[in-house]
Amino acid sequence: MTLSRRNVLKTAGAAAALLPEAARAQTASTPAPANLGPTTSTVEDRNRRMQWWHEARFGMFIHFGLYSVLGRHEWAMEQEGIPVAEYQQLAKQFNPQPHAARAWAKLAKSSGMKYMVMTTKHHEGFCLFDTKLTNYCAPKQAAGRDLVAEYVEAARAEGMRFGFYYSLMDWHHPDGARCKTDEAARRRFVAYIHGQVRELCTNYGKVDILWYDVSWPLTPEGWESVQMNQMVRKLQPDIIINNRSGIPEDFQTPEQRIQAYDVPWESCMTMNDSWGFQRADDNWKSPKTIVRNLLTCTRDQGNYLLNIGPKGDGSIPDPSIQILTTVGRWMDAHNALIHRADRCQVKRSEFALFTRQGNTLFIHAYFWPGETLAVGGLQQKVLSAKLYPSGQPVQFEQEQFRVRFTGLPRYAPDPIATVLQVECDGEPTQDQLAIRVNRKREGV
Ligand code: GLC
Repeated sequence: MTLSRRNVLKTAGAAAALLPEAARAQTASTPAPANLGPTTSTVEDRNRRMQWWHEARFGMFIHFGLYSVLGRHEWAMEQEGIPVAEYQQLAKQFNPQPHAARAWAKLAKSSGMKYMVMTTKHHEGFCLFDTKLTNYCAPKQAAGRDLVAEYVEAARAEGMRFGFYYSLMDWHHPDGARCKTDEAARRRFVAYIHGQVRELCTNYGKVDILWYDVSWPLTPEGWESVQMNQMVRKLQPDIIINNRSGIPEDFQTPEQRIQAYDVPWESCMTMNDSWGFQRADDNWKSPKTIVRNLLTCTRDQGNYLLNIGPKGDGSIPDPSIQILTTVGRWMDAHNALIHRADRCQVKRSEFALFTRQGNTLFIHAYFWPGETLAVGGLQQKVLSAKLYPSGQPVQFEQEQFRVRFTGLPRYAPDPIATVLQVECDGEPTQDQLAIRVNRKREGV
């Protein structure tokens, strides 16, 4: 009897309906590592490889595949129970405009992003790159060309670093589920996966990031992740690898949330609620929310990987363009504060976020309080203050528990976030309890 994928899922002991969630949980809960990943050589080597990435801070994620034609989210195949034979017909339609990736790279650059990560193969199993290991790939289907090569060329033309997203989980490959329970299938499937990772790391010159996703249904031992990543590092000595092959490697990947780790981390996030193009998803984040998220990542020394989901023809949905254009205008004036920032301990405010460079504190007021702006608990003496980037001087008064910046414009000079640059006599820190504990309580 040949096992259908559905039967395999049943015999694997998990309710099929729950699998997506289970798979997600598996990626989301990879624990923060106490030490470096097994294939990383030394701390110094990792710091060297990752320096550009830390400075880059802001990147573009691109989810592109057959699901972009459907326009109902990249999990449609699984969640709607679409049979493989029916789904793969999409490969006969998927034929994006030539060099669609050029517009992505231009938008990324004008938004202040410094790198891009594109899905080379998502869970659906369709490969956007030229592979000798399957015919289920763009060059051998309607598109008739290597879409990864186009993406690489576009990224390079705009001076963007780039990475490859690659899903280990595969809903199309015959061994993609039965590999869990059938050793011969596991060997075949691991040879396929390692072979494709080898192709990706061999055929496109220098690759900056390898971004694995969902490692269901195997363990890192089952995937032979250590051997796979050793191979990757041999082929690409400077590459940065994420944590989703089941071993920590170079960085953590909190998804749809911002969470600081004490190792390098990158928060990936959608602009609406979908990674792949979803025609009717109108739940867009505002440009201000996106800037706030980027500032939060910057403050805590993380990266922000923000997604676009191009349509089947490769064009970017209009709302994404509009939002990123506004973000880009803010970034034009402020990107130096994002790309060069030290960890900032100052956090408390309900209308501003803080970043730091040495002894300089930058107050990013996203809800402008008006003519006076106050911060509590700053422990250093303020030496001077001005508006950024105009350099217009700002008056201030400092008392024990409060510094007040006065004579400010009544309305926000920048509606996204107006920035005050504050020189302090030491590294700015905030005592978050002092006010509650030490301030005299006698009123009038
Ligand atoms: C999840 C989803 C996937 C998406 C990824 C991005 O793992 O399964 O669709 O590509 O998150 O982080």
